[in-house]
Amino acid sequence: MQLLVASRNKHKLKELTALLKDLPLEAIPATDIRGLSEVVEDGATIRDNAIKKAVETARVAKKLTLADDTGLEVDALKGEPGVRSARFAGEDATYHENNKKLLQQLEGVAYDKRTARFRCVVAIADENGLCECVEGICNGTILEAERGGGGFGYDPLFIADGQTKTFAELSPEVKNRISHRAKAMQKAWAVLSRYLRERSAGGEDDAQPKPPQRERV
Ligand code: IMP
Repeated sequence: MQLLVASRNKHKLKELTALLKDLPLEAIPATDIRGLSEVVEDGATIRDNAIKKAVETARVAKKLTLADDTGLEVDALKGEPGVRSARFAGEDATYHENNKKLLQQLEGVAYDKRTARFRCVVAIADENGLCECVEGICNGTILEAERGGGGFGYDPLFIADGQTKTFAELSPEVKNRISHRAKAMQKAWAVLSRYLRERSAGGEDDAQPKPPQRERV
């Protein structure tokens, strides 16, 4: 069975594909499907955006679809950048520009007050708009300068609780064991496994039948 992964971010796609690899599903990136336009992320929350991406993409592609939306919530900035994480420093800001703005806003804030978390919501939707959401959170601290060349986004500034290296210094395997996305995908795994079980028990083998949960959006 195919699962469309509604992301055009190559870093995210790589992490999500690795996290899906043991499921009997063929993960297809949205970039492989012609005619799929990018979904506008204008929701008020991370959850809204994850649902919107999954539901709109599933309807157009007529495939079971998984989407992830992630934000970095910094306590000293009252939860900012949050849902605006991608465009913190402006509409087309680069990762480095966003990091620079974050460091500027945290100037003078003591290390023990630089607590933050990545929040990742994964939504799984079918072509009929049925959708289920799961969430993963990774708590940590924002450093005073970037460290490491791996990962993406805010990774060079983020040290997860219990770690001494930033996400950008950890190997992809370690990040994929402890990250917000890994935690959300563990829950998504349970949802997808149940869906696969239900589907084989029901003997349905239509291309893309109903997904697991039962929230119509
Ligand atoms: P998106 O809207 O889910 O694509 O992500 C919003 C922004 O959050 C991205 O532009 C990245 O800057 C940041 N982001 C998302 N996931 C991660 C991650 O795993 N590590 C670091 N930054 C991330």
